[in-house]
Amino acid sequence: MTFTAIRSALLHCLRDPGLAGDASAIEYLPDAITVMRDGRVHAVGAADALLPTLGADVRMDDQRGRMLAPGFVDTHVHYPQVDVIASYGTQLLDWLNRYTFPAELAFAERAHADVAANFFLDRVLENGTTTAAVFCTVHPQSVDAFFTASEARGLGMIAGKCLMDRHAPEGLTDTADTGYRDSKALIERWHGHARSRYAITPRFAPTSTLPQMQAMGRLAREHPDVYIQSHVAENRAEIAWVNELFPGHRSYLDVYDHYGLLRDRAIYAHCIHLDDADRARMTAAGATPSFCPTSNLFIGSGLYNLQQALAAGNAVSVGTDIGGGTSYSMLRTLGEAYKVQQLLGTSLSPAYALYLATLGGARALSLDDEIGSIMPGKFADFALLDPAATPLLARRTTLRDDPLDTFFALMTLGDDRAIAATYASGRCVHRRAMP
Ligand code: GUN
Ligand code: ZN
Repeated sequence: MTFTAIRSALLHCLRDPGLAGDASAIEYLPDAITVMRDGRVHAVGAADALLPTLGADVRMDDQRGRMLAPGFVDTHVHYPQVDVIASYGTQLLDWLNRYTFPAELAFAERAHADVAANFFLDRVLENGTTTAAVFCTVHPQSVDAFFTASEARGLGMIAGKCLMDRHAPEGLTDTADTGYRDSKALIERWHGHARSRYAITPRFAPTSTLPQMQAMGRLAREHPDVYIQSHVAENRAEIAWVNELFPGHRSYLDVYDHYGLLRDRAIYAHCIHLDDADRARMTAAGATPSFCPTSNLFIGSGLYNLQQALAAGNAVSVGTDIGGGTSYSMLRTLGEAYKVQQLLGTSLSPAYALYLATLGGARALSLDDEIGSIMPGKFADFALLDPAATPLLARRTTLRDDPLDTFFALMTLGDDRAIAATYASGRCVHRRAMP
């Protein structure tokens, strides 16, 4: 059944609440109506005010007892790594060679990519995520498979084909020339098609030759409104390798900058081992870091210092980084982000955590006029949270009548079970089966 309105509690950010969590930046409506039309939010407000204005033809999804939030935004994830998750015993460079590259080779086959893309999107939607910046493999058909599947579900996804012309197995490399041409053709096919957007996707500096770095810079110049996504400063051995491969640069980040890959709409995963000059340069260039806590812990990469990044003005967002990351759930990812910051002596407030996964993610992707909060005119992309999803959550969340405390309990204890439903472009695209 297609609903035209949802009745529920509602929680979202009106603006950036800051790391300490200014509660006035958060709006909470205990009994709200959200009216959808043509895939977008048509009206939203308190039920007692809105109900009398609704026509008899409104089909209401009555979800009282649950909390509607903007669909989550995952700013760094790899769909071809669905089978890489939970791979034992390695750090980044070994992990790539032992687990990741072999898994990505299979995406030369379109049928394999179709199955993986659909499996991936099922997991994403059951976790309440409606927008993500997604790495595909080097194969252009892996991008076609992904966008075909995401558009069929009404999603607004960002994705791109990896470019790598060295230090990867045969079958997983392109060249400076084919990488450029294939990316250009994919931009023409997908960027701005339905809600899809394209990202030029250098895997990371070590897998591109200097001519390929130049070709990607040219592509970026020719397409100023296209995204760029890559990895930087994740792991110490990786950084040492970049210093050998690209001598004469001030830093790893400077390599991307030198080739014109640091700009607005450029998302760099990890950014753990940046220095003050790098962080300042990120802000000046308009590039943004994606903090991937479950991956950083699992691959043993390090502790991302959120406070330092925010002090430098970086527009930080959060990514699951499947399959280095260990959960598709943005709630779980926020829970781990909290723990990483605790180890650094900082408390990540629930308000700021909510912001990171919604409006902050949207802002990092320059999509905050379309998604990230529940406002008339924005897309009707929502995650419906269930504060009583498990006996433990039910017991814990009834203790205090405070929506941000409830959200904190959800990000600490919740996962896909806490997502009662997910809506994309005004359609219910996932509903949790009742246990
Ligand atoms: N650096 C280069 N490729 C990857 C990848 O697939 N995952 C992670 N976490 N880091 C990378
Ligand atoms: Zn990654």
